[in-house]
Amino acid sequence: MSSAPGISFARGAPSLDILPRDELVAAAERVLRADPAGAFSYGTSHGYLPLVEWIAAQHGLDGEQVIATNGSMQADAFLFQLMVAPGDLVVVEAPTYDRTLLSLRGLGAELLAIPLEDDGIDVEALAGALDAGARPKLAHIIPNFQNPAGCTLSPDKRRRLLELAEAYDFVVFEDDPYIELRFEGETLPTMLSMDRSERVVYASSFSKTVCPGIRVGYLAGPAEVIAAVRKIATNTYISPSMVAQAIVAEFCRSGLMQTSIETVKGALHARRDALSEALERDLPDASFVSPQGGYFLWAELPEGSDVDALTDAAGERGVTFVKGSDFLIEGGHSSLRLAYSGVTPEQIDTGIGRLADAYRSLA
Ligand SMILES: Cc1ncc(COP(=O)(O)O)c(C=O)c1O
Repeated sequence: MSSAPGISFARGAPSLDILPRDELVAAAERVLRADPAGAFSYGTSHGYLPLVEWIAAQHGLDGEQVIATNGSMQADAFLFQLMVAPGDLVVVEAPTYDRTLLSLRGLGAELLAIPLEDDGIDVEALAGALDAGARPKLAHIIPNFQNPAGCTLSPDKRRRLLELAEAYDFVVFEDDPYIELRFEGETLPTMLSMDRSERVVYASSFSKTVCPGIRVGYLAGPAEVIAAVRKIATNTYISPSMVAQAIVAEFCRSGLMQTSIETVKGALHARRDALSEALERDLPDASFVSPQGGYFLWAELPEGSDVDALTDAAGERGVTFVKGSDFLIEGGHSSLRLAYSGVTPEQIDTGIGRLADAYRSLA
């Protein structure tokens, strides 16, 4: 084991130095004094209403089309509970967020894994599967700066997915916690905003823009779906944390949200640059597409590389990452996900130097 301080490329979480700590403390103080009844009571499964209304306004929706939850993980879990029964077919991206795979497997879903390309899911491969008889209930899509691959779904593919959803009668679950974290290129319209046939259910989160510990996320979509999700939510917890949601509401109301997003984006941009440069310099065998935003870079090592062994060798040098195979039903054995959200450019330089040393030790 290395005695040097550990460097983690494993966790998709921001480092403490880029979180708006003082601003959150001040927002908490203000809102808890201004609205003790709203913040300290049970509330309803809808969530803290000023926050629900703020979210609805951001998306041009009615409040009835939004539910605020304890993190977007909870939103995902409620939607899956509502829509997925054992044996149901669900489309997932390959690779995709490991927790999505775990949740869907836990519910007994059959998974139809469709490969990702540099501009998002291979929609024509999906069209082929549908044409051949696949009948999914739901397609889980992470459109922006995908976790783990870092890629973004192109506008044409967004349109095509909606066409397929309508033609084959499935719901698109747009899981979008990274949308605000674009540091290059133009923001693309959400599929929720493009949807004309009430087929999109959208989730996002304040974990990646405000802080993960606050555990506030949401689901937005057709009012009937949200009403059904609210029933599950009421039976699960009566209401989410009103204290946490009140703080986020005050944070958004007072304009601090935008400042926080700018801080996080600036840091992520510098970290992405540091990571790309360090990989090119120290680990030229790794190929990758540089993400235009978000937290993650997906690196592929030459075919036949043993990422299991690399995990151990890197661990001995105090460096962690997540193996590509954790994000796939099969394959991914020569890939790795590197999260650059929680490490400074200096740590990135040191960490990639150590990772490269670990890689060479296996040659
Ligand atoms: C694609 C995706 N969905 C959902 C989540 C869960 O986020 P939250 O902290 O809002 O529960 C994450 C977190 O990493 C994620 O990457």
